[in-house]
Order: sequence, then structure tokens, then C-alpha cells
Amino acid sequence: MKNGAQEGDPVLERFHFLVNAPALFNAVTTAAELRIFAFLSERSGARAEEIQVFCGLPPHQLRVLLQAVCATGLLDRREGIYHNSRVAEELLAADDEPDSWGHILTGWKEVYYPAFSHMTTALRAGTNTALAAHPGDEPTLYGRLAHNPPLEEVFHRAMTAFTLRSVDALIEQPVFDGVRHVLDVGGGDGSTSARLVARNPLLRSTVFDMPSVSRLASDAEAGTYPDRVSLMPGDIFTDPFPTGPDAVLFSHVLEIFDEDSILLLLSKAYAALPTGGRVMVYGYNVSDDETEGVFGARLGLYFNVLASGRGMAYPARDYERWLRKAGFEEVSTVSGLPYEHGLSVGVKP
Ligand SMILES: C[S@@+](CC[C@H](N)C(=O)[O-])C[C@H]1O[C@@H](n2cnc3c(N)ncnc32)[C@H](O)[C@@H]1O
Repeated sequence: MKNGAQEGDPVLERFHFLVNAPALFNAVTTAAELRIFAFLSERSGARAEEIQVFCGLPPHQLRVLLQAVCATGLLDRREGIYHNSRVAEELLAADDEPDSWGHILTGWKEVYYPAFSHMTTALRAGTNTALAAHPGDEPTLYGRLAHNPPLEEVFHRAMTAFTLRSVDALIEQPVFDGVRHVLDVGGGDGSTSARLVARNPLLRSTVFDMPSVSRLASDAEAGTYPDRVSLMPGDIFTDPFPTGPDAVLFSHVLEIFDEDSILLLLSKAYAALPTGGRVMVYGYNVSDDETEGVFGARLGLYFNVLASGRGMAYPARDYERWLRKAGFEEVSTVSGLPYEHGLSVGVKP
């Protein structure tokens, strides 16, 4: 081996894994789409011949696929019988549930990863050139998806699944104690709000998102709370924030934009809130020294190559600085939440 890189060096091992990861990602996604994890879960394991009858792949192609998924560790094979690993059982077996990782994999396959082949061009150009693959003239992916309802559904199913996997850390925070009415800005299909009102019986929520997205909310979990989750279709930049709520939540929203837009949204929140009202910024944070965070890395690249041409999973100290600049006090962050998440909070004096 040249240049001193040693077998056993964890960086070398990680390099070898990551250069093969795009193929393995697609193998796992294909296995999920063929419902192999669900089948193995129902049967508590199966032989290749049984999996072949179930999914219909030619035997040789199934052999290749099963070897790849076993190489990831998600499946194992003991005495010729394939089993789900514990992780596959927990993340992928219940594939008809709204929080299945299967939806996330399909969303990343259909939306994120085709765009990443444009990364060098987009980063050089300083804008989201991969957006050209999506019809429309809106400057962000969120606007353009309205022209492609099937893809918009895939996208929001993936986002909802991820939200449901990460929302518990948010709804358990004491910062919601005493809040009566939250404005959930960019609240998507209302899944976060539905979980919030389920957990806090005196709370109601207004979900503010684009009209095409608001339409998805009635069929999602939010539709089960028609009296306590209301929808406000509109544009969060050009339409005013309603007054009345005593808290404003930005969940996975501010990171899409640059500093000027973030300050504009925080100022709108400040203007709409009463004295003592709280603003909450929930989402991915890279580490303060900007060297750690694989979820944050993927997200920042996705924003810049495809979604908005700007933004990143900012470190918490950036949000704290912007909250103070917008006039909020008692600014603090709960960091280290699952999936590299943090919650930064401020209070209107
Ligand atoms: C990453 S998603 C977050 C959804 C939800 N808050 C969550 O945590 O799952 C960002 C949301 O912001 C919405 N959004 C982006 N730009 C918007 C705009 N200008 N007006 C209204 N909604 C917008 C998108 O439609 C999308 O639902």
C-alpha cells in the first residue's frame, strides 16, 4: 500500500465503504421496493427460492441482490436462510407504516440522488442548476413539485417519514408547556403539528405552507385533528404571519435559506408574537466547528445542488446569533438530539 494508508485505518475503511455506498444504497432501496424485508419479517426468515417466488426476480439477479444487501449487514444468512437484522426489522419491515424508512429511501432515490450527479456544476455555478430537471420556473424545488403531483407525493411521504422518526425529541421539550397556539411555518403536511397537539391536549396549531402542500394535509395525520390543526395555505415570505399564536415553530425550514431570508422570517415571527411569545427553530445542526454531521452534510449539498441553491444545516450558534439579531432574548439551544438535531429557542421581550 502506498503513501502510508494502512489496512485497519478507520478513514480508509470508511472510504472503501463510501465509494461503494451508492450501489449498496440502491440495492437496499430495491430490496425495500420488492418488499423483501416485509416478507422476511412475516416469515421469520426464508430461503432464496421462497424469496424468489415472492418477489419474482430471476434467480441469478436475486442472488446478486441478496449478496449486496447481506454485505451491508441489513440481512444475514444462516444455514441458507435469510433473516432481517435488528436494524432492518425496525426500520424497513413495517413498510406500510407512515414512518417506514422505505419511504425515505424511495424519496432520496427519486429526488436527491439524481440531482447529486450535477454537484460539481452546481457548486461551481453557485446555484441549484439541478433544478432544471424539474418543470416550472419557480426558484425552489418546493415550488416546482406542484407541477409533478406524483413526485410531490413521494417527496412529502419521505419527509413525513423522516419527521415521524425525529419528532419525538421535539414534542417532549418543556418549551411547549403553557403554549396555547403554535404557528407551524413551513409545516408541510402537518405531521409535526398533529404529534404536538396529540401530546399537548390544550394546544392548537396553524400549519402555514404552500397551497399544493396544504392539500396533502387532510389525508395525513393532521386530518385526524380537524378542530385543533388548521391549515393556512400561502407563501411564508410574501404573505403576512397571522397574529394570535403565542409560539412560532420553524421545523426543518430555516436551513433551506440564506441569512437574509432567515432574518426576514425571524422578524416576521417577532412581529406576529405577543410579549413573552416563543420562537422555536428545530432541525439539523452541524457541529459548531463545521467538521461533523453526515445527515447535515447530505442536506446542505441537497439544498445547494437542487432545492434552493443556498442554505445548510447551520451550526446552532448561527441560529442563536440570528435570533438575538431579530430581537429575541433568553436565547438557548438544546443540542445533541437524535439525527443530529437541535432546538434553538428565543423569547420576545
Ligand atoms: C423540509 S420541509 C419541512 C416540513 C415540516 N416542517 C417538517 O418538519 O417535516 C420544508 C417545507 O417548507 C415549505 N416551504 C418552502 N418554501 C415555502 C414558501 N415560500 N411558502 C410556504 N411554504 C414553503 C415546503 O413546502 C415544505 O413543506
